[in-house]
Amino acid sequence: MKLLNLSLLFFFIIFFTRSESCKSNDKTTLLKIKKSLNNPRILDSWDPLTDCCTYWIGVVCNHGRITGLTIAAGEVVGEIAEEIGDLRDLVILDWSSLYGLRGTIPRSITKLKNLVYMRFRITELSGPIPEYISELQNVTFLDLSFNRFNGSIPGSISQMPKLEAIQLNHNKLTGSIPESFGSFLGKVPDLFLGNNHLSGKIPKTLSKSDFNTLSLSGNNFSGDASMFFGHNRTTVRLDLSRNNFHFDLSKVKLAKSLVSLDLSHNRVFGELPLELTKLRLDHFNISFNRLCGTIPQGGLLQNFEVYEFSNNLCLCGAPLQRC
Ligand SMILES: *[C@@H]1O[C@H](CO)[C@@H](O)[C@H](O)[C@H]1NC(C)=O
Ligand SMILES: *[C@@H]1O[C@H](CO)[C@@H](O)[C@H](O)[C@H]1NC(C)=O
Ligand SMILES: *[C@@H]1O[C@H](CO)[C@@H](O)[C@H](O)[C@H]1NC(C)=O
Ligand SMILES: *[C@@H]1O[C@H](CO)[C@@H](O)[C@H](O)[C@H]1NC(C)=O
Ligand SMILES: *[C@@H]1O[C@H](CO)[C@@H](O)[C@H](O)[C@H]1NC(C)=O
Repeated sequence: MKLLNLSLLFFFIIFFTRSESCKSNDKTTLLKIKKSLNNPRILDSWDPLTDCCTYWIGVVCNHGRITGLTIAAGEVVGEIAEEIGDLRDLVILDWSSLYGLRGTIPRSITKLKNLVYMRFRITELSGPIPEYISELQNVTFLDLSFNRFNGSIPGSISQMPKLEAIQLNHNKLTGSIPESFGSFLGKVPDLFLGNNHLSGKIPKTLSKSDFNTLSLSGNNFSGDASMFFGHNRTTVRLDLSRNNFHFDLSKVKLAKSLVSLDLSHNRVFGELPLELTKLRLDHFNISFNRLCGTIPQGGLLQNFEVYEFSNNLCLCGAPLQRC
């Protein structure tokens, strides 16, 4: 009798641990997602006969609810299944290095109200970045880098109140930065827009956004970029390299917080501000511009090489030639 009770107890322990297991409608949804990717080898562990919370690679559950879905590094053929929106408890959606993932981000994604982390990186997703992703009001980290998205950057992204980082770099985006990026609903997120086909002038409104990290490298922006500078900013990393920016560097005030500044390959003119000697720089590059005058001496500035100062109009002084 006692033994029976004990085995009953064990049965219940196992039963309740098992209650963490996959719900059948979630399993059905996941299998639709798998099918929509043409049942790729990386999802071989998604076996209809096993528990999806326990045995399926990339599926994370919390009390039987699917909270994480990571699919990475493999060949797939197909699109993101519409049914992804049925995984209502998803917090982390992280798909990366999926060659053959085509199409767009389906509208059903807006049903994922608990989503905090959204990443589709290194895939072949294309077309415009949909405006409706801004309906994901809990997202703090948005990474759509290394895809084939084209069209302009949706201004509605500025209305996502919890954003901390936006990575749209390495796509085929065109147009400029939306004016709305001068007034984010929440705090100003780190912004990575490098290696797109963005062009034109930066809207003046952007002077209102104090970015911690901003990268616009490898686009075709032109005109003034001095709105990203200023005495009382808290910018730490600023990369404006490989564009067509044209402004007077003598006229900008540098934030004391700057640690990394890359202006290389632009048409920046004027002289180097003396304040550069007061910064704790770990990266600095002003090569291939139209700067002139004496390089301020002191601080960490002379730690950088000739290559970081070269190909300007008439810069002189260490580490370049004497004036
Ligand atoms: C964000 O997530 C929390 C809890 O995960 C949820 O209660 C809330 O409704 C979500 N916010 C929005 C705007 O959907
Ligand atoms: C985006 O690319 C598609 C196909 O590659 C093309 O048909 C479409 O016109 C492009 N859109 C924009 C705005 O460039
Ligand atoms: C970059 O923009 C300039 C105008 O500011 C234009 O003349 C040039 O053709 C553009 N370059 C590319 C590669 O799109
Ligand atoms: C920053 O400085 C400018 C003037 O240089 C001033 O108008 C502005 O209010 C300052 N902003 C903050 C947040 O201190
Ligand atoms: C600075 O830019 C030049 C030109 O693109 C490049 O050759 C050099 O390696 C860069 N230096 C650093 C530290 O990135």
